[in-house]
Amino acid sequence: MRNLTNCPCYNATVNRVTVNSIPDFTTDNMLQLQSLRLKSGVLQAPMAGCTDLAFRLIGRGYGLEFAFSEMIASEALIRNNQKTLTLLKNPAIDKPIGVQLVGSNPERMGMAAAMIETMGFDLLDLNCGCPVHKITGNGAGAALLREPGLAKRIFENVTRRVRRIPVTVKIRKGYADASGDEAFHLAKIAEQSGIAAITVHGRLSSQGYTGKADWDIIARIKQAVKIPVIGNGDVKNAEDAKRLVAVSGCDAIMVGRAALGNPWLYGSIHAALAGTDAPPPPSLEDVKKTVLQHVALEAQHDHEKMAILKCRRIVCWYFKNVPRGAEFRNRIHRSRTLEETREIIEEFCRGWSALLNSGSAFSLHQVS
Ligand SMILES: Cc1cc2nc3c(=O)[nH]c(=O)nc-3n(C[C@H](O)[C@H](O)[C@H](O)COP(=O)(O)O)c2cc1C
Repeated sequence: MRNLTNCPCYNATVNRVTVNSIPDFTTDNMLQLQSLRLKSGVLQAPMAGCTDLAFRLIGRGYGLEFAFSEMIASEALIRNNQKTLTLLKNPAIDKPIGVQLVGSNPERMGMAAAMIETMGFDLLDLNCGCPVHKITGNGAGAALLREPGLAKRIFENVTRRVRRIPVTVKIRKGYADASGDEAFHLAKIAEQSGIAAITVHGRLSSQGYTGKADWDIIARIKQAVKIPVIGNGDVKNAEDAKRLVAVSGCDAIMVGRAALGNPWLYGSIHAALAGTDAPPPPSLEDVKKTVLQHVALEAQHDHEKMAILKCRRIVCWYFKNVPRGAEFRNRIHRSRTLEETREIIEEFCRGWSALLNSGSAFSLHQVS
């Protein structure tokens, strides 16, 4: 068991919360990305609008080792855009951490990458998977899957300028071509350009986040390159994580949406991959403490107005599967202060607690 008092999240929190169970990381899962050595092969996915500092600190309190901040546009960084610089706050308690860059101009991507390297981050990732029209319309993100020549120039420019930290690439199965050939070719180009690892999200850009992730393309790329391959898409629980590793042979896995409101997932995946006993699911009290801690961290690291807006979504993540939760979520969405948000959470949990004490079954998957 890790010593919680050494845990970065523990020291950073406003309300000290005792976390029930954090399994040891297993050295079997070790991932070497050039100079960066990770003990855990379970990485948090970059998610714009979600993976802020508070989210990352909460995850780290439950066994997450490597986290990504939110995606950064190369042009905004070069212009010293204030909002972008805020996303790049890099406190010592939030490490190891990667930054993801998006853009389509090789020279400007190289410049932005060099700036990132001086900022103390541990890894730089290049986005070749964002399906949003605003991004692909500029030739960036997933559009690069169809422009391997341009992608190659970006990779080469960035790896030439960034020497101290590993540069990785995150791709999708393809833009709209279901054969997987676009991803295959881009992965080969990435390897030849000095890229340290490739994350493969097994969906087409045209699918957005719908449909099922294809893990066979992850297996195909794993067989085609020698650099580490990180598998991503549809890991919703520890069993999925084990299956993804078995099906694809990937070196590590990246977890996205399923960890929103469920930081316990990291611990259960570590246990499954290490072949140790699954940690007990969190109790209602654990969920309440953690969501309140998350709210407190948002308040600590953002100004009140922004924190309220963010917390309306965040709180709902934690209670997304609660029966009769619709009214609760409506109230959270209408709350005007963080104090009100806290009171609604407390009241809702009191109600559930009373039901549990009266013997009613609680069917939220993550609450025992
Ligand atoms: C709200 C949201 C924002 C995302 N933002 C990014 C991003 O900025 N960069 C990126 O590479 N992927 C982004 N993704 C994709 C995830 O990193 C991940 O590849 C995808 O959700 C599939 O993994 P999952 O099935 O575990 O969620 C985002 C996904 C969501 C749902």
